[in-house]
Amino acid sequence: MASLDALEASDPSSVAQQIAAAQSAATVEHDVAQPDPPATPTVTAPSVQVGDFGVLEVDTDPDRDSALGDDDNESFTTSINSTVTDYKFEHGRRYHAYQDGKYALPNDDAEINRLELQHRIWQLSLSGRLNLAPISPTVRNVLDIGCGTGAWVIEFAEAHPDCRVTGADLSPIQPTLVPPNVEFIVDDITSPWIYMQRFDYIHSRAITVGIADWSGLVEQCWKNLEPGGWVEFQEYHMPVTADDGTMANGPAFQLWNDSLKAATTKVGIHLDAILNVPPTLKQRGFVNLGTAGTKWPIGPWPKGKREKKIGELTEKDLSSAIEGSSLRLFTKVLGWSMEEVQKLVKEVERDIAARRMHSYIPIDFLWAQKPYDAVD
Ligand SMILES: C[S@@+](CC[C@H](N)C(=O)[O-])C[C@H]1O[C@@H](n2cnc3c(N)ncnc32)[C@H](O)[C@@H]1O
Repeated sequence: MASLDALEASDPSSVAQQIAAAQSAATVEHDVAQPDPPATPTVTAPSVQVGDFGVLEVDTDPDRDSALGDDDNESFTTSINSTVTDYKFEHGRRYHAYQDGKYALPNDDAEINRLELQHRIWQLSLSGRLNLAPISPTVRNVLDIGCGTGAWVIEFAEAHPDCRVTGADLSPIQPTLVPPNVEFIVDDITSPWIYMQRFDYIHSRAITVGIADWSGLVEQCWKNLEPGGWVEFQEYHMPVTADDGTMANGPAFQLWNDSLKAATTKVGIHLDAILNVPPTLKQRGFVNLGTAGTKWPIGPWPKGKREKKIGELTEKDLSSAIEGSSLRLFTKVLGWSMEEVQKLVKEVERDIAARRMHSYIPIDFLWAQKPYDAVD
């Protein structure tokens, strides 16, 4: 966290202020201790940018803000061991066993390392914040759906020792040595949820590839939230894009984007689905919607030290994700041969490494509250 703090200190203005602005616009002042919760106002927060890089500016003097030499370039190897289940092995990668075939990405060590690296990018994006929804500091029950390695769950639990935090995922790839207020369960979040209690806050992050029916997911969140509880989605949407036409400098990367969209669409998954979730939330009765967005540059091409850092990490993250996200989808759904997939993967990796694109992944934050007077 030291380098994150240093970055924050060098840029005291925008991140904290903009997050605060987003939250104050969306916040309903509520104190969970008070006996009569206020009637829920129906204000909708304006969209805001998180961080100071809503517009990424191309750096023409890359040495200035170089992030090279920072210790974050170290290996992201984790000590997590997956021991439990009858995993599926295909094309040299390992996949979840529970609800076999439900999720297209692997769950092996390479993917675990990638998720840990990506967790660092989320941390940088939010200056260490874990949530943007203005939840009460005294939340009691929290659920993270599609929790992956459980990094978010563990950090949230450590920050809220009186709160019970549950992480649910298809894969039991979480560590066993965890804070006492953490519980991990293997579950398919697209099946009906059966929990003993309702939650004060339901969080999810980067689950788009696993979700075909967002209305169904919103419905489950509604049913499993306490009145006054918050739901928050921290997502990305695809395709990867560039504002200045430089995607043309990466033809293989562009082909991969198009093919990923074709494959996911064929199985009913829309990589830009999060953009349509706000009306779904409103329609279901959620109030106090808040949204924020940022961009993860791919490579250290933008100006700014933090932007470069996020760019370097995102470049690593994506380079690792290209193969993992393509193998199952391109062979099984698009009918490509393994050799064709591997050839494209190599070409995409070359396109990314050449750093001739000013590309980025659009990132979306979305939160909303179940009214205190909700009727289920
Ligand atoms: C890209 S990872 C993100 C993990 C974690 N949220 C994070 O941000 O580090 C997506 C996770 O969603 C999980 N997932 C996908 N579909 C799921 C489903 N139907 N039920 C439960 N988990 C699912 C995957 O197993 C994977 O761990």
